[in-house]
Amino acid sequence: MKKRLRGTLSVPGDKSISHRGVMFGSIAKGTTELTGFLDGADCRSTIACFRAMGIKIEQVKDHVTIHGNGLHGLQAPTSMLDVGNSGTTTRLISGILSAQNFTSELNGDASIQKRPMKRIMEPLSQMGASIVSLKGNDCAPLRITGQPLHGIHYNSPVASAQVKSCILLAGLYADEETSVTEPAISRNHTELMLGGFGATIRSEGNTAIIQPAKELYGQKIAIPGDISSAAYFIAAGLIAEDADILITNVNTNPTRAGIIEVAKAMGGKITLENERIVSGEPVADLHVVSSTLHGCEISGDIIPTLIDEIPVIAVMASAAVGTTTIRDAAELRVKESDRITTVTENLSAMGCNITPTEDGMIIQGGNALHGTTIHTYLDHRIAMAFTVASLLTEEEVTLDHPECVTISYPEFYQDFQKIMQ
Ligand code: S3P
Repeated sequence: MKKRLRGTLSVPGDKSISHRGVMFGSIAKGTTELTGFLDGADCRSTIACFRAMGIKIEQVKDHVTIHGNGLHGLQAPTSMLDVGNSGTTTRLISGILSAQNFTSELNGDASIQKRPMKRIMEPLSQMGASIVSLKGNDCAPLRITGQPLHGIHYNSPVASAQVKSCILLAGLYADEETSVTEPAISRNHTELMLGGFGATIRSEGNTAIIQPAKELYGQKIAIPGDISSAAYFIAAGLIAEDADILITNVNTNPTRAGIIEVAKAMGGKITLENERIVSGEPVADLHVVSSTLHGCEISGDIIPTLIDEIPVIAVMASAAVGTTTIRDAAELRVKESDRITTVTENLSAMGCNITPTEDGMIIQGGNALHGTTIHTYLDHRIAMAFTVASLLTEEEVTLDHPECVTISYPEFYQDFQKIMQ
C-alpha cells in the first residue's frame, strides 16, 4: 500500500527552551510568561521541582506564568526533588542548587539513576560545591549542600549543553567570571535566553562566558516548535512514497538544525519558508516532500546539533541507497536508553543491515523492512523513530510501550494520524 502524507502541522514547543524558561523565570524577579510551552512529562518535572521550592507557577496547557522570587528566593524543599526521566532537569537544577543556602536531594526514575552525573559533579566541585552521589556511583540520587561558589574556567571533555548550562547557572552565583569551553558547540539556548533575563553572558567560539549576576528579571517568551519533534515528520515526509507536508513554526537554531543539513546531504527535498526570529531564536516553516535518499557520513562537529535525532536519522538511512556511517556519537550510549544498542536491535529486527560501533553505527540502506514488535526501553525517541519506520513496512509495527512519548510529545500519534491519508 502506498503511504500518502499530506497537510500542515505544528509540533509542540521546544523542550530545551521550555525547561530553561521555567528555571530562569523561577530565579528571576517578577513575572515570566511562556507561551508555546511543552506540556510533556519532562517539563512538568521541572515545574514540580520549582514549586517544591516555593515558586508559584500557573499552567494552562501551553501557557505558563512563573512568579519568580529572584536569584536568592528559593526555599528549601521539604522532600526529595523528583526529576522524573529528565536529564536536563537534573543537570541544570544542580547548578542552581549548588549555590543555595540549604541542602536538597534529588532523584528520578530507573533511567535517570543510570545516567552519568560525574560530568557535572566534577566542575561544580571545582567551583566549591558540595554535591554527593548518595549511592556512590556518580549517578542520582544526589545530595547538594549550597556553598559560596568560585568562578572557574572549565574545559569540558564532552559537547553537552546540559553540562555547559549547569556550570553557567552556578556561575550566576560565583564570585567572579565563569567560562566553559566545549570540544564542539552544543545547543546555545542558555546563552541566548539568560542574556534576555539580564545576565552578562557571551560566546567566543566554543567558549561561553558568564559574569556573576545581582538579579535576573522576568521575561515574556514565545517558545517555537521543537525541531527534535519536527524531526519525525521531516523523516516521514522524506521516506514516504507520496508525501508533501508543511511543518510550521520550527526552531531552526543552527546549534539544533543538523538534521536539515543531513537531510539535504542525503538528497532530501526540504525547504525553509517564512524564516524569522522569535524571542531571539530563528524559526521557519519546513516544507518536506518525498525524496530518493542516498547514504552519507555523519561525524564531527555536526553531531551535537542532531544528537537527539540520530534514532530517526538511522531510520532514514535504512531507506536510503548505499551506506550511512555515523561516528563521534558515543554520547548516544548515555541517553534515556543506550541508543546505539536500542536503534541497532530494533532496526535489525525489522530486517535492516546495521552494525553498531563504539561511537555510532553503519547502516546499509535499501533492504525491504518488515513489521515486528519494537522494544522501546521506555525511550520516547525510540518509540517515535520506529513509528516513522512503520512507513517502510507492509506489516504492522507494534511498540511495547507507546505511552513513553508523553516525555516530549504527548500528542505524537494523533499528529501522525492527522497527516496519514
Ligand atoms: C539538552 C541537551 C542534550 C540533549 C537533551 C536536551 C538540553 O543533552 O540530548 O535532550 O536541553 O540542554 P546533553 O547535554 O547531554 O548532550
